[in-house]
Amino acid sequence: MSHKHIRRIGVMTSGGDCPGLNAVIRAVTKTAIYQAGIEVLGIEDGFQGLVEDRVRPLNARAVSGILTRGGTILGSNNRANPKRYHVGRDANGNPVYEDKVPTCIETLRKHSLDALIVIGGDGSMGAAAPLVEAGVNIIGVPKTIDNDLFGTEITFGFLTAVATATDALDRLHSTADSHHRVVVCEVMGRNAGWIALTAGVASGSDVILMPEIPFDIGHVSDYIKERVHKGPGFAVVVVSEGARLRGGNQMVARVDDRSADPIRLGGIGASVAQAIELATGVETRTTVLGHVQRGGTPIAADRILATHFGYHAIATLMAGKTGRMVVRNKNSFGDIALLQAAGKQRLVPTNHSLVAAARALGTNFGDGQAWHHPNDDEPSVVV
Ligand code: F6P
Repeated sequence: MSHKHIRRIGVMTSGGDCPGLNAVIRAVTKTAIYQAGIEVLGIEDGFQGLVEDRVRPLNARAVSGILTRGGTILGSNNRANPKRYHVGRDANGNPVYEDKVPTCIETLRKHSLDALIVIGGDGSMGAAAPLVEAGVNIIGVPKTIDNDLFGTEITFGFLTAVATATDALDRLHSTADSHHRVVVCEVMGRNAGWIALTAGVASGSDVILMPEIPFDIGHVSDYIKERVHKGPGFAVVVVSEGARLRGGNQMVARVDDRSADPIRLGGIGASVAQAIELATGVETRTTVLGHVQRGGTPIAADRILATHFGYHAIATLMAGKTGRMVVRNKNSFGDIALLQAAGKQRLVPTNHSLVAAARALGTNFGDGQAWHHPNDDEPSVVV
């Protein structure tokens, strides 16, 4: 590793927090110091700290013992966007924004930061884009429980969120069984159904509702009636916060106009539960997992992935590259242009093999489509 012009770098965690952020901070800091003699400064609360000039030195001691800790020792922020920075409200209560890209560049200059490691999701990569365009050396590290970042097959934090959601669904399974009820569990994921699909499959949930497959409540209720009255007598439904009725809209829980990405989804779980109870007559309860999915210690797979990504971020910088985001595809690490990933989402393809596998096992996606084994109702085709 060598890249002589990089003497000092900054690292920040930006966007919604997730398990594994500290593991990346540790990997970035230790690799930079041990392998390249680079000094590392931590920027507090994402881009807000860059605008407000809140930075602190990080050394091996400062990042020791944080591998297993949830959250981020640097703090994070899922509103601050340098190009459209919220500075207050006008007389009518409307939000006022300013372009703080020059202020960010000034902070970087003031601390002689030659490069910046931005650990964030699609919103943060989008927020970093104007700085990349202004010539700042940035390497992005893909973070989010939603697993929806374009250009990488996985983001760290996702697998821990899936483990947490699966554990919750397992617990809901036994209580639904005892009371002969339907339990609806709303999980996070924004516009992507990765958490709902994977936790739904891992827990053997009966119905999986996700944004990519708009559902019809009639199909869901018919399936549940059959299962409750003729089958095991209970049902578990996992619904992604971004799921929507066919021809309907996503449910919005709140709008935060201080944020460049103001929509916060939520509420679909309760609405689905009410509709199921009405249509089936079966007692139905709702659980919203919420931020539980973002907290806590990362599972081993996320610690490993985060460490790998952190190391690769510094290796990429030392290879003389800039404006890149480290990625993993087909189990190999690499990097893509950060501007290519900025602001884009990677949704679940509706023909994803895990969707097919779940359908094959009889899981209902609320779209009226069932998977049929070719031998069930049509002759096998031999090619
Ligand atoms: O992107 C991560 C995420 O947890 C989403 O799954 C969720 O929609 C959103 O952030 C919640 O944001 P907030 O923390 O602002 O409520």
